[in-house]
Amino acid sequence: MPTTSPARSSHSSAAKSLLGRDLITVADLSVDEILSIFDLAARTKADLRAWRRALDGRAVVMLFEKDSLRTKVAFEVGVSRMGGHAIYHNHMDCRIGERESVSDYARNLERFADCIIARTFGHDVICELAQTSRVPVINALTEKYHPCQALTDLFTLREQLGTLDGASIAFVGDGNNVCHSLMLCSVMLGVDITVIAPKGYAPDEDVVEKAQGFAAASGATITLTSDLGAVEGVSAVYTDAWVSMGFEAEAAQRHVAFASYQVTPELMQRAGKQALFMHCLPAHRGFEVVPEVIDSESSIVFEQAENRMHVQNSILLHLLGDGS
Ligand code: CP
Ligand code: NVA
Repeated sequence: MPTTSPARSSHSSAAKSLLGRDLITVADLSVDEILSIFDLAARTKADLRAWRRALDGRAVVMLFEKDSLRTKVAFEVGVSRMGGHAIYHNHMDCRIGERESVSDYARNLERFADCIIARTFGHDVICELAQTSRVPVINALTEKYHPCQALTDLFTLREQLGTLDGASIAFVGDGNNVCHSLMLCSVMLGVDITVIAPKGYAPDEDVVEKAQGFAAASGATITLTSDLGAVEGVSAVYTDAWVSMGFEAEAAQRHVAFASYQVTPELMQRAGKQALFMHCLPAHRGFEVVPEVIDSESSIVFEQAENRMHVQNSILLHLLGDGS
């Protein structure tokens, strides 16, 4: 859909304000809209059967240029449990825009489907799909952002802690797509974020600037450092792959650069007993995290994974209707 500016709505009308919109980055959303997505995610999680007809007769197309387990399966199962139909269109061998233009993709798919969910390499590709399509487009991960993940992460943290008041996250590793969306979503919700990245791998400056704007409004803080000591006292330590999809050619140099940024029991101890461990998955045990941490009591990675479906269901209900 053509981009509209983020609505400043009251929490109660936020469900309606998202109808027909795209979700390209969490920065497209107002705080009320995020909270509305969380509230409906919690309700559908408690009793999804009550929504079993919500997407009756609706079809969504999922265009994926990269691998996926959680995003793909969670959307597919979620849509089918709500009475709709999800069609997976694998583009791992032929990129969107190669056989025909990105805009022609959008102009064809909008004739068949009620929503386009896309995982693309270039962020410009999803933006072009959204600009052209008359049906909502959901970003299922690009090189720049992963909004469905970040919304799930903050939803999961709130579920675990009972409240986001006073919460803080330390993201350790690559200032990548997951880090970008996590930064934005955290500070929008008033959660302090510290990004601990080796030199050369800090998050993009334009994202940091945008996050600083949201932080000024919410009172949250943003700390960018390469010092692992900054984990002290945080509510959660979060990490992601050292080598994201599309960066495989840099694997050797990245393994050197990130070698000391592994999340170990010692690092979790520096964070403190209260600290939870988070990861978007897939995890690479022995690289960004060791088994003693990801498979420990403080790890909530599979709660995050499960909540992908509940939050994505809520996003679909907000964008396509029947989220009331
Ligand atoms: N976290 C996440 O997006 O997982 P997938 O790549 O498996 O979808
Ligand atoms: N940063 C990772 C996230 C995978 C869900 C990637 O882009 O490959």
